[in-house]
Amino acid sequence: MKIFVITGAGVSAESGLGTFRDKDGTGLWARFDPMKLATPEAFRRDPGEVHAFYNARRRNLLASEPNAAHIALARLETGLAERGGNLTLVTQNIDDLHERAGAARVLHTHGELLKARCVICGETSLWKDDLGVDDPCPRCGKKGGLRPHVVWFGEVPLHLDEIYGALNDADLFVAIGTSGSVYPAAGFVSQARRRGIRTCEINLEPSDNADQFDERRYGPASEAVPAWVDEIFVADR
Ligand code: OAD
Repeated sequence: MKIFVITGAGVSAESGLGTFRDKDGTGLWARFDPMKLATPEAFRRDPGEVHAFYNARRRNLLASEPNAAHIALARLETGLAERGGNLTLVTQNIDDLHERAGAARVLHTHGELLKARCVICGETSLWKDDLGVDDPCPRCGKKGGLRPHVVWFGEVPLHLDEIYGALNDADLFVAIGTSGSVYPAAGFVSQARRRGIRTCEINLEPSDNADQFDERRYGPASEAVPAWVDEIFVADR
């Protein structure tokens, strides 16, 4: 079986990373203005403020651990490969918790918080410390060009050709812990439906496009995802 999974902030919520939009108004974008922190214009206007926001998120990430949902998805990748199938794991998350749980291949369509990209030479470098406007690029040595390797509003998400290729070829599409409000990921379910691919949503509560899914499973990701993975292996025996 070929399974395509897209994850969102909900998969990392129980690791303490928070989500962007929550019905009780505690999400990141209720407390911080994305237009001041997550756009190319914001970075041009006040790079120090944007760096400070992502530095705080990077520190939070380094103090966090993968949870049972990340671990179950890594188990799914191995188990499907052993059965001659495969998992395409796409995440909108900029954290590295899927990798730390053991996932070998993760497509980060919104970039990676533990990388910095130099706008002068174009190279991407691993970056675990705070990032600042005066840091020189480890590759070209120039100062003033490093930015978080994350996709901001108004920028094109990464790996889209590979993502749509795998989505169109999947037997099952599963959206986990995403509100379904940010494109292109929010449109994956309708694309899967057009291709006749079965669709499943796993979330704490119904997402914005819940009615488009064939199957809906609600509960905390740390419980709902391992339970779903167990069922996949029973069905795929
Ligand atoms: P959101 O914050 O929009 O949605 C999080 C989803 O996770 C919601 O549907 C919650 O119900 C669900 N959720 C919360 N806790 C959960 C739990 N313990 N178990 C399961 N589900 C849970 O996050 P995303 O959909 O990932 O982009 O947001 C998409 C993009 O919008 C992000 O990548 C980010 C943001 O703006 C950029 O920064 C460019």
